[in-house]
Amino acid sequence: MTTGTPVVSGLERAAGRERLRDAFARDVRDGLTAQPKRLACRWFYDDEGSRLFETICELPEYYLTRAEQELLAEHAGAIAARLPRDATLVELGSGNAAKTRLLIEALLARQRRLRYVPIDIAHDALDATARALAASYAGLDVRPLAADWEEALAALGTSGPLAVLWLGSSIGNLTRPEAARFLARVAELVAPRGRMLCGIDLRKDRRTLEAAYDDASGVTARFNLNLLVRINRELGADFALDGFLHRAVYEEDRGRVAMYVVSRRAQRVRIPAVGLDVVFDAGEAVHTEDSWKYSVPEIDALAAQAGFDVEARWLDRAGRFSETLLVPRR
Ligand code: TRP
Repeated sequence: MTTGTPVVSGLERAAGRERLRDAFARDVRDGLTAQPKRLACRWFYDDEGSRLFETICELPEYYLTRAEQELLAEHAGAIAARLPRDATLVELGSGNAAKTRLLIEALLARQRRLRYVPIDIAHDALDATARALAASYAGLDVRPLAADWEEALAALGTSGPLAVLWLGSSIGNLTRPEAARFLARVAELVAPRGRMLCGIDLRKDRRTLEAAYDDASGVTARFNLNLLVRINRELGADFALDGFLHRAVYEEDRGRVAMYVVSRRAQRVRIPAVGLDVVFDAGEAVHTEDSWKYSVPEIDALAAQAGFDVEARWLDRAGRFSETLLVPRR
């Protein structure tokens, strides 16, 4: 068995954490002094956020994970057959990699060895995932990379073809132009022989979408409000958690579910680490995240814009979610 050697050393990791904390402080300051206020979604995934997100994935209302699981369970063999045998499997935002196991198993069924580079911003979750995967599969060479997507693309070397996985409709957390730019960079990175597999949630009725992002048991609300908990802990702020609530709205014409943290009353919050006193009006909304939804023609247009051809596509039986295999245009 090959055990994954982390490509990031302990020292680099400490420096990485410090850089992240500075970036967090900057983002919080910029976002909460902007008009309208916003907080950047990449900060959702601290340890507690990662745990809450895993719980979201199991909620009855959050159909995305199950739909994608169904798709991969059914089509992993067909997907694997279209990836180059010598490709390194790279995953953006690997999380617990539960769905990836299906693809890894399909690949290891046809080849003895596979190199897998899971990339995630949640350091500790990444370590645990890498260890568990290395222990599960002889022949799997796991090389975790703790980074955000931008850093990750820059850090990926170019020895041999890459098969880049971007599951869970994470692409929906970028605006459409951002998504096109990001895909264009991936297209360049994987050309000429590599592939990209993109899991993308589809446009659908408002009720289904709003329930998926505002579940009855309140887990998504806790996930969203965990941003405030993190600001309290890491930046010494005094957000009163009962002073804010979670809101998710499907804006159908734009095709996005917009998420907000809403102030329930007029209040003032101190954030000492960034030297800020923030005033909130009653009902004031802080934008935290969007989840953009796509139609199949919109996915085709996005791919074309980024320099990809659509090589294959699969939908789940209920037509809620899509898996698109992209190949750089020749
Ligand atoms: N990529 C996930 C999605 O858009 C992230 C997510 C799920 C999320 N639920 C959320 C982000 C609630 C913020 C709030 O589906």
